[in-house]
Amino acid sequence: MADLSIRYMGLELANPVIVGSSGLTDSVEGVRKCADAGAGAVVLKSIFEEQISGEVERIVHASGPSYWHSEGANYVRSYGRENAVEGYLELIREAKSAVSIPVIASIHCVSAGVWTEFAQRVEQAGADALELNIFVLPSDATRDGHANEQVYLAAADAVKAKTGIPVAFKVGPFFSGLANTARELSRRGVDALVLFNRFARFDFDVDKMELRPAPFLSGPDEMLVPLRWISILSGQIDCDLAATTGVHDATGVVKQILAGAAAVQMCSALYQKGVDHIGTVVDGVGAWMDGRGYASIADFRGKMSQSESENPAAYERVQFMKATRGQD
Ligand SMILES: Cc1cc2nc3c(=O)[nH]c(=O)nc-3n(C[C@H](O)[C@H](O)[C@H](O)COP(=O)(O)O)c2cc1C
Repeated sequence: MADLSIRYMGLELANPVIVGSSGLTDSVEGVRKCADAGAGAVVLKSIFEEQISGEVERIVHASGPSYWHSEGANYVRSYGRENAVEGYLELIREAKSAVSIPVIASIHCVSAGVWTEFAQRVEQAGADALELNIFVLPSDATRDGHANEQVYLAAADAVKAKTGIPVAFKVGPFFSGLANTARELSRRGVDALVLFNRFARFDFDVDKMELRPAPFLSGPDEMLVPLRWISILSGQIDCDLAATTGVHDATGVVKQILAGAAAVQMCSALYQKGVDHIGTVVDGVGAWMDGRGYASIADFRGKMSQSESENPAAYERVQFMKATRGQD
C-alpha cells in the first residue's frame, strides 16, 4: 500500500489526518482513542487566553448564553475552577506519555497577551507543537484592516520569540489582505497556517425574538472555502498549510492535499460517525493513491494548486456568469 507518511511543521506523521482541537481531545482517554483509531496527530482542546489570565467568568458572561456551545462554556468554567493552567499542562504531559503520535497543544487568543509566557510552559510540558487559534472580529468600524492584521503579526513575533517548538496559526478567512497576511505570518517564522477556523455562529429565533446557536457541526460543502484558499496560497508562501472545516471523508482529504495542504484536520465528521471513522478515511486515501499509482503523498500534493494549474484564472473566478453556468 502507498506510503501515507508526511512532515507537518517538521513533525513526522504516519498519515495526514489530524484530529482537530475539540472535545474529542480534551482528555487523555479521548487522545488515546484518536491514536488507536489511526490519527496522524491530535490537536488538544484549546485553553483560552482568558483562562490563562484568570478572567474565566468574564468571557462566559460577556458572550451571553447563546454564543457559546454548551460544551465550550462548561469546559471554560470547569478549567477555570480547577486551575486552568496546571490542568492543561497535566493534560499535555499525560497525553504525551499515553500515545506515540505528535500532540499539538492549542491556545485560543485574541492578541499577544500573557499567554505568550504560557507558551513556554507548554513547550516544557512536552507538547510537540503549539497551535494558536487567534481571531480579531473585524467589527470595530474605526479600525482598518491593517490595524487588525497587525494584531496577528505581533502575536507571531511574540510567540516565536518565546518558544522553540513549531507554531501554527489557525485563522479565519476574514482578512482584508488574506494572502498578504498569510505571507507575512510565514515570513515571521510561523510554521503552519490552519485554514480556516469555523466560528461559533448564531441564528435568530423569530418567535422568541432572541438569538439561538446555529448548528455547531460543519457540512461537507464547507470545505470548499479552505480548498480555494489552500489552492491559491500553496504556491505563494513557504510555511505548511493544513485544512480545517468541512472535511468529512477520504475524498475531502485527497482534495485538500491536491490543493497543497500538508495535513488535514477533522472534527465534525468524527462527532457524527465516531473516531473510528479516522481508519476509514486513512484507508480511503491509501486506496485512492493505489488506484492512481501514487507511492507517496508528495507525489500528488499541490498538483491541483493554482500555481500548478494551466488555467490559474479559474481559481479567482468568483462571480456567476450566465454563459458559464448555463442554469441561472
Ligand atoms: C464541539 C467543538 C469544540 C471545538 N473546540 C475548539 C477549540 O477549543 N479550539 C479550536 O481551535 N477549535 C475548536 N473547534 C473547531 C474545530 O477544531 C474545527 O476547526 C471546526 O470544527 C471545523 O472543522 P470540522 O468541519 O472538521 O468540524 C471545536 C469544534 C467543535 C465541533
